[in-house]
Amino acid sequence: MRIDILTLFPNMFQGVFQESIVRRAIDLGKVEIHLVNFRDYTMDPHHKVDDTPYGGGAGMVLMCQPIFDCVRSLKTEDSKVILLTPGGKPYRQEMAYELSHAKHLIIICGHYEGFDERIKSICDMQISIGDYVLTGGEIPSMVLVDSITRLLPGVITDESHINDSFHNQLLDYPTYTKPRVFEGMEVPEVLTSGDHKKIEEYRYQESVRLTKENRPDLFDK
Ligand code: ADE
Repeated sequence: MRIDILTLFPNMFQGVFQESIVRRAIDLGKVEIHLVNFRDYTMDPHHKVDDTPYGGGAGMVLMCQPIFDCVRSLKTEDSKVILLTPGGKPYRQEMAYELSHAKHLIIICGHYEGFDERIKSICDMQISIGDYVLTGGEIPSMVLVDSITRLLPGVITDESHINDSFHNQLLDYPTYTKPRVFEGMEVPEVLTSGDHKKIEEYRYQESVRLTKENRPDLFDK
């Protein structure tokens, strides 16, 4: 998979893709990530990428021209163009699965007050990572890249994501490791019983309990 991230702040990504699973996926050749500064595409003599909003109001709005030209220079018939915005569709694990099958993602990070509405015309989807407003799409794009990369075949074992939270509308069950007793807190006995049927049943019940407690909205589904 190839991912192009269109951003005015490529330095924000320093380090994020150089560690852990994403780094391994890059090293294994499973994903190629390019940071593209769309300021490089502006035709403005002063390298402007934003301007004041028509109709008045606070802040600056990203202009069409640099983003249109940048997307057009990268886009092929295999590309999916994603716009990150708090007004987008809420990001879900099933969207991460769907996007992990794409060959090429172009992710546009907005910044400042917003972007010219006409930019949506060149996008296939608009995504929000949650009901809060960040200063830009950079952190949301890191969330997308991380969640999609770990699902690419051969990056982590299949078993790891079969048990992920949200896999069947349930949160993940609790896990423990050594020692068996830590500061008086014991590992549930069933997990050391060796009875795999009982362990599976215990884990399922715990997933149900946690989902009811923490995410009644998911449970009702
Ligand atoms: N840009 C600013 N806030 C955002 C959010 N919550 N999701 C996606 N992009 C954003």
